[in-house]
Amino acid sequence: MVIALKNILDIAESKNMAIAAFNATSLEGIMAVIEAAQEEDTPVILQFANAAHGKYVPLDTIGRVMVMLAEEAKVPVCVHLDHGDNFDEIKKALDIGFSSIMYDGSALSFKENVANTIYAKVLADQYAAGVEAELGAMGAEGAEDNIMGAYTDPELAKIFVEETGIDALAASFGTVHGIYKSEPKLDFERIEKIRELTGVPVVMHGGSGISDGDFRKCIDRGVRKINFYTYAAKFAGDAIRQMAADTSGNLYSHDIFVQARQSMKQTYKDAIKIFKNR
Ligand code: 13P
Repeated sequence: MVIALKNILDIAESKNMAIAAFNATSLEGIMAVIEAAQEEDTPVILQFANAAHGKYVPLDTIGRVMVMLAEEAKVPVCVHLDHGDNFDEIKKALDIGFSSIMYDGSALSFKENVANTIYAKVLADQYAAGVEAELGAMGAEGAEDNIMGAYTDPELAKIFVEETGIDALAASFGTVHGIYKSEPKLDFERIEKIRELTGVPVVMHGGSGISDGDFRKCIDRGVRKINFYTYAAKFAGDAIRQMAADTSGNLYSHDIFVQARQSMKQTYKDAIKIFKNR
C-alpha cells in the first residue's frame, strides 16, 4: 500500500528507527526494494532521482511502475521523488501518484530556497503528498569529504522549517553521495541540534559507506530517513562480473537482470536490518 511521507516517518519515530529510502533505476531495482521490505516486514521509501537517473529511464515510465508495484506491496511504501529541482518534474511525479517529493534548492540562496520550497509544498498539498527539502549541501559525488559542501546550520534550519512547513529536512553533517574517498566523519551533535530546533525528522543522504555504528548513532539522534543506493548498484555490478567470469558459453541479459535483482535485494535487506536499530 502507498503511504505518505509524514505517516511513514511517524512509524520510524515511534520505533526509534530510520526508514530506508532506496533509489530505483530499473524494474529489477524496484522489485528488489519491495521484495526486501516485504521479507523484512518493514515499511520502505521507494524513490527515483530524475535529475541523476532520468538518463537511464524516464520518470514517466519508471514512476508508473513504482506506483503500481507500491500499491500492491504487502508493506507500506512511500513513493518519493528524490532531489526534485524543477516544478515540471515535481508536478509530473505528483500526477503519476508519488506520495512524497523532495524539493532540492540547496544550491540556491536561503531566500530562494525558502520561496521555492513553499511553492513545492503548495503543489504537494494538492495531492496530500509529503515534502522533504534540503538546507546546506552535501559534497559532490566522490568528493574527498564534505568540505566541498556547507554543513547545515541548526539555527537557520529552524527558520527554514518554520517558514516552509516541510515534513522532513535533508541535512548536511558529513555525508556525501557516492563512494567515499576517505572514512566519513560525521557531526553527530549537529544532527541532535537540528532535530531539537526544527522538530522534524532529519534525512541522511549518501548512506553508502557509513558504518553500522555510525548509522545507529545518527538514528539515535533523530535521523529517520536514510537514502542509500550506490552500494546496492556497485555490489550488483560485482555479482554480475563474477557471474560473467563463472559463465562459459552464452551470457544472457535476462540472467544478468535476475542476478542484479537478487544482489540488490540482499544489500537492501542488510541495510533495512541495520536501520531498524534494534
Ligand atoms: P548513496 O548513493 O551514496 O548511497 O546515496 C543515495 C542518496 O543520497 C540519494 O539521494
